[in-house]
Order: sequence, then structure tokens, then C-alpha cells
Amino acid sequence: MKTIVVSGGTDGIGKAVALTYLERGDEVVVLGRNTEKGDALLVEAARRGAADRAHFITADLSLVGETRKAADEIRARFAKIDGLVLCAQHFRSTRLVTAEGFENTFALYYLSRFVLSHELEGLLSAASAPVVVNVCGPGIDFGEIRWNDLGRERDYTGIDALMQGSRLNDLLGVGFAQQHPESPVRYVLLNPGSVRTSFSGEYDPVMAEQIEAARENAKPVEEGIQPVLAALDAPPSTPLSASTMGEPLELAGSAFDPDAARRLYGLTAVLLADTAS
Ligand SMILES: NC(=O)c1ccc[n+]([C@@H]2O[C@H](COP(=O)([O-])OP(=O)(O)OC[C@H]3O[C@@H](n4cnc5c(N)ncnc54)[C@H](OP(=O)(O)O)[C@@H]3O)[C@@H](O)[C@H]2O)c1
Repeated sequence: MKTIVVSGGTDGIGKAVALTYLERGDEVVVLGRNTEKGDALLVEAARRGAADRAHFITADLSLVGETRKAADEIRARFAKIDGLVLCAQHFRSTRLVTAEGFENTFALYYLSRFVLSHELEGLLSAASAPVVVNVCGPGIDFGEIRWNDLGRERDYTGIDALMQGSRLNDLLGVGFAQQHPESPVRYVLLNPGSVRTSFSGEYDPVMAEQIEAARENAKPVEEGIQPVLAALDAPPSTPLSASTMGEPLELAGSAFDPDAARRLYGLTAVLLADTAS
């Protein structure tokens, strides 16, 4: 029986992946901030005969402290993880700073994925063919990392924060492979294309209209999760890979720059050290 951990598994792609593996007879751990949605998922799991294999851990993943606590709980309760699926995301048209002082998109889209990836590497390594599937935005060739303003204090826009987050996640993948050179864990950066999900977020009226239009043209979740399932079922042979809509991407260019990845790892380690409990 596999153990699959899904961050942001209460809706959209994460939820569909979670239910798929519960249906197949595997064990699934969902991390989410919304207990009502978490309870509903457990009810749905029970309805499908998977009550004893479904677990929900409440965590606001925009907070490093809560993300670390969730990782600690997983380490305490499970002996191995076969798949870690990173999906938690929440768009914000207006800038928000968390109680820990980080800009919300930076904290949720990037920092929580950094913490979960690195802190669960040991448990992943205990599985026979472990894989991290980071569902993000590789292959989109825009988005600037503002190295001296990662929290985007100057001229914030939600799209810029989101696109920066995607670039940071590309480098997180490169950095993960650098930091764990002997690890059996395969790290997959995966862009599913446009999928009709909940698009969790707080949108201004213009953006809300655009999102509604995008949802109408997007593919259904059952179709959108196929590349995620494929990566979980048959992890790639290389330590790091990236794909968009099932098409492999070359790990070249500034998006996957090894020096930038080392720089980001160092910067992140300093930021996280400041939040150490
Ligand atoms: N859908 C697409 O077209 C598309 C395209 C490219 C890439 N992606 C990427 O795919 C990933 C999954 O997206 P999706 O479309 O499935 O998104 P979604 O339907 O909006 O789901 C996002 C999940 O994250 C959770 N979440 C939000 N804020 C959280 C927090 N502070 N703590 C814990 N959980 C939180 C949400 O829970 P709540 O219900 O509580 O908000 C929800 O379960 C995202 O990283 C997204 O950027 C999606």
C-alpha cells in the first residue's frame, strides 16, 4: 500500500488525486486549512470504504510554523511516504503579509513547498520509488524573481507574485536535487495546463471575470490530473524533471540555473532560520 501526502488536497487537483489513491486502496494524508472541507473529504473517503486509510491534518500552510508542525506530525505517524503532491495555492489581488512577516504568495506557494520537500525527504527515502510532484508553472517563460524584494513590497500585483512563485518553485526543484545528491527521491515540476478547479483566491473584479472565463475553457479535473497520476505511478528515472501538459521540458536556461538555485537555497535557509521555533 502506498502512502500519498497531498498539500492543498481539499479542493481541485489535490483533492482529485487524493480520492483517486483512496479508491485504489492506498493511504492518503491531506493537508489543508479548512476543517469543514477536510471533514467532507473524510466523509467522502468513508463512503468509498476508505475511512481507515484517509487522514486530514489541519494546517494553514502560509505559516511556516504550521507547515513544520504538519511535517512533524507526518514524521511521527508514518513510516514512509511514496508520493508528496504539492498543490496548496491561493491567489491574492491585494498584498497580504502573514503573522510571520512573509508576503502570502511567497509563503504559501514557495516556502511551504520548500519546507515540506526538504523536511520530508527522509521519510520519502524510506519508500521504494519515492517522488515529489510539485504542481506549479514550469515552462511559462515569464515571471521575474526580485532577489532584493522577494515579498514584493514595491508595486505588488497578484500575477507578478504568482509568476515569481512559479520561478522560485523551478529553482526549488533544482536546489532539491543539489542538496540531496544521493537521494532516491525523484522531483517532478509539473504544469498541468488550464484545469477547471476552485482557483482558490481573492480576486479583484477584473481578475475575477478573467478567472471565470478561464475556468469555462479549462479541462475537467479528471483530465487535468492525468500527468500527476502518471508521475506518481511511474516516477521518472532522473532526479529532476519538468513537464507542461505531459510534454517534457528541457532543464536549461535561467529557469533552471544551478547558481540561482544555490543562491535561493541559501537565502531561504536564512529566512527560515529566523522563524525557527
Ligand atoms: N488549475 C489550473 O489551471 C492550474 C494551472 C497551472 C498550475 N496550477 C497549479 O496547480 C496547483 C493546484 O491548483 P488547483 O487549480 O487544483 O487549485 P485549487 O482548486 O485552488 O486548490 C488549491 C488548494 O490549496 C488549498 N489552500 C489554499 N490556501 C491554503 C493555505 N493557506 N493552507 C493550506 N491549504 C491552502 C485550497 O484550500 P481552500 O479550499 O481552503 O482554499 C485548495 O485545497 C496550484 O499550485 C496551481 O498554481 C493550476
